[in-house]
Parts: sequence; structure tokens; C-alpha cells
Amino acid sequence: MKKERTLAEPFRIKMIEPLRMTTVEYRKKALQKAGYNPFLLSSDDVYIDLLTDSGTSAMSDRQWSAMMLGDESYAGARSWEKLEAEVKDLTGMHYVLPAHQGRAAERILYSLLGGKDKVFISNTHFDTTRANIEFTGALAIDCMDENLLNAEAELPFKGNIDIEQARATVLKYGKENIGAVILTVTNNSSGGQPVSMENARQVKALCDEFGLLFVLDGCRIAENSYFIKHREGGLENLDYRTIAQQMLSLCDAFIMSAKKDGLVNMGGLLVLRQQKLAEKCTNLLIISEGFATYGGLSGRDMEAMAVGLREVFDPDYLHYRIKSTEYLGQHLHRKGVPLIRPYGGHAIYLDAGKFYDHIPVHQFPGQALVCDLYEQGGIRCVEVGSVMFGKYDEQRNHIPPKNELVRLAIPRRVYTQSHIDYVIDVFDDILEMKAQSRGLKIAYEPTFLRHFTARFDRI
Ligand code: F0G
Repeated sequence: MKKERTLAEPFRIKMIEPLRMTTVEYRKKALQKAGYNPFLLSSDDVYIDLLTDSGTSAMSDRQWSAMMLGDESYAGARSWEKLEAEVKDLTGMHYVLPAHQGRAAERILYSLLGGKDKVFISNTHFDTTRANIEFTGALAIDCMDENLLNAEAELPFKGNIDIEQARATVLKYGKENIGAVILTVTNNSSGGQPVSMENARQVKALCDEFGLLFVLDGCRIAENSYFIKHREGGLENLDYRTIAQQMLSLCDAFIMSAKKDGLVNMGGLLVLRQQKLAEKCTNLLIISEGFATYGGLSGRDMEAMAVGLREVFDPDYLHYRIKSTEYLGQHLHRKGVPLIRPYGGHAIYLDAGKFYDHIPVHQFPGQALVCDLYEQGGIRCVEVGSVMFGKYDEQRNHIPPKNELVRLAIPRRVYTQSHIDYVIDVFDDILEMKAQSRGLKIAYEPTFLRHFTARFDRI
């Protein structure tokens, strides 16, 4: 069989950002100083940064040149009009509110919809979504697809909401108490798995039946559209943007952290179909983010976002994006590294519980792997397991979450295939040394969101 051609990047490099090369000895000291928590490292000490795909994209020459056109007027800026027109065309919704990032849009919407007796239903609430909902006193309930528990099941849309579970939740709490149904595409907290158009249609039908608000968290909607085109029958002839538009036509509200598929380093959107809700949200926007025509963004940010929201649907870009993430997954899988499959759009999720099964969960196998990847290769990534989601019972015994994962998130248009090949090579050393890897114990932890600032000691 003829060898497949290398998947080369559909762009070339016009400006470079030098990276500092360090040694294993140097990194061991740096990590010890950072309390074995890579969030506390200086980015200068990191070679390949796979901590997040959020706000870490490289902008195109078109985005940078659009920034020179930024109109910084307080009200009614040209740059705002451009962004508003672009978002209206994409979403088909009339009320567009800019925000400085996704969680700012979430805080505005959920503080209006939330409250003590309210219940929110989602395929999986992302941390900031859950936090913004719970902060109002409301309950956030995940109705995950049962196939998600089976990490290896090669199914096309493991990010879907379990519609029967969602319906049962509406019936249990009463439709008048449901704040909204939130569909997150792709499903970041569940392995970056996509959501099908069929599932979105089922959510719309459920919301219509009970008179509920359908919110789409679409910060990775372009990547989700790629999966729909290639995996879901019947939509293969549509282009990616049209698929996204079709999904957007089903919902009542759209929340987007533009730091992902908006291809910008900062920015967010709250887009609404209903005037009444939009008016309330606009009041809160003006109190907390900024006037309705900038919402915490400068004119140049809005220019870059308007261009990014178009570029992200480019078929060459999206093909390269999804295939290059898959490339990393395939090579690690071939080496025998256990991971969640099929591969997500923006990240590869390693099953550290299985990979480092000699380390008990209360000694944080995921964090140990995160530390080893940094020490051996200067690669920074994040644990999504007991450090992030572990809890204590009344006797301070550790209650682990379902999975001990490590996320390798891929910034958009930043690293070349040889960077990714380097990451794959580092795993040879990790595989060789894994039996000697030791777990960690907590030396300091804050009360909330401990993964950001906790410090550890190696056991
Ligand atoms: N919704 C989802 C699905 C997200 O993944 C994120 C951010 C947000 C909302 C919040 O957006 O950061 O702009 O305030 N996810 C990042 C991550 C932080 O690393 O996955 P934000």
C-alpha cells in the first residue's frame, strides 16, 4: 500500500517566538520549586505547552492586520459593527453581547437564570459553567452518555447528552424549576468528544415540549462541525459553517469563549434570540463588563475575533486541526499508552489511572504523569482526576472521581508536526521509566479549585 503523505501544516511561518531549551536536571529543580504543580511554573521553563487550547492560538496575518483597523470609540465603534454583523450571520440570532471571555458571559446569563431552587441540565458542565451556576445556589446536573464510561468504545458521538436522563431530570424537578438545558460542543469535560446534530435536535424537542431554554456552549463549534460532517450521515455535503449554522438555529442562546474556535487570545460572546432576556443581560453587561458595544474588549480585539470566526471554518484548517490531534493520539496508542478514544478535537486525554496503575489514586497517578512529562520533556499539561475533582469525606478520606486523566490540549496553529513528534518521542522515556515513578502527597491546598495553586511533595 502506498504510504500516506505527511499531513503538512496549511500555513507557513512569518514570525517566530523563540523557545528556551532546558535540561532534565534544570527542570527537576524548577518543578520542585513550583511544588510539583506545573501551573506554578514560569512559561519560560516550558518547551511544549499543552496546558490548554484556550487563548493560546496563533493569529493569522489577516487577524493581525485587521487589528490595525481597530476603532476604539466607547460607543458604536466600527469594529463592534463588524463583529456584530459576523456573529449575527453565523448564529441567526439578533442580540449579540460581547464579553471579555466565556466565563464572563456565563456569569451574566446564569446569574439571571439561576437561583436557589433552579436546576441546570447539561451533557457535562465545564468547571466555570458549574461554578457560575452553583454560585447562584442552583444545582448543575450532568446527564452524560453512558458510553463515556467506556474509554475505549469507538463510538462517533460520545459527547452527547443522554436525552432520557435529561427528560427524567426535568420530570423529577419540575419544568418550572429548570434554569436551562446546556449543550456543550465539543464536550470538553468528557474527553473532548463531539455532539451530533441529531442529539441537538432532541434537546430542542425536549425544550419545546417543556418550554425550557436551550443554551449552546459552542466554544469549539467549528471542531464539532468537522466531526458531524465526517461521522453523521446526511450532512456530508454541507460545509462546516453551514453545519454550525444549522446547530445554532436550534438553540435560544449561544455562549462562546472565543479563546478557542474564535482563534483569538481573549474574547467571549453571549448571543440571544429573546429580546426580554437580552435586555436583562445587557443591563448586567454594562454594570460589570462594559458598554454594550465593547463588553470588556478593545476595538482591535473585536476586529481579530470577527476575522477568526470566519477563518476557523476554513476546510484546510479544520482538516489539519482535527487530523493533527488524531496524529498524536494514534502514535501514543500504538506505543501502548492508554487513552480515551476516539480522539477529541482539541486534546488527547491519557488514562493515567490505567497507565500508572502502580500508584494508588490517593497518591495522584495523573499528577505524577504530568510531573514526569515536564521533567523528561519540558512538556506542560494538566491532570483531570483526583487533584482537580477529588473530594474528602467527613474523616478526610479521599473520594476519587470516576477517572484519573491527563489532558494534552493542542493550541491552534502553534506547534508543527515536529513538535508533536518530539512529544511522542518523550513517551518512549516515560514508558521505560514508568515503574519507577512515584506518587505525590499534598503539602498545601486551598479550599476551592485546588489544582491551580496546590503544592505537592514526591513520595
Ligand atoms: N466552556 C467551555 C466548554 C470551556 O472549555 C471553557 C474554557 C469555558 C466555557 C470558559 O471559557 O476560559 O474563556 O472563561 N476552557 C478552558 C480549558 C479554560 O482549558 O478548557 P473562558
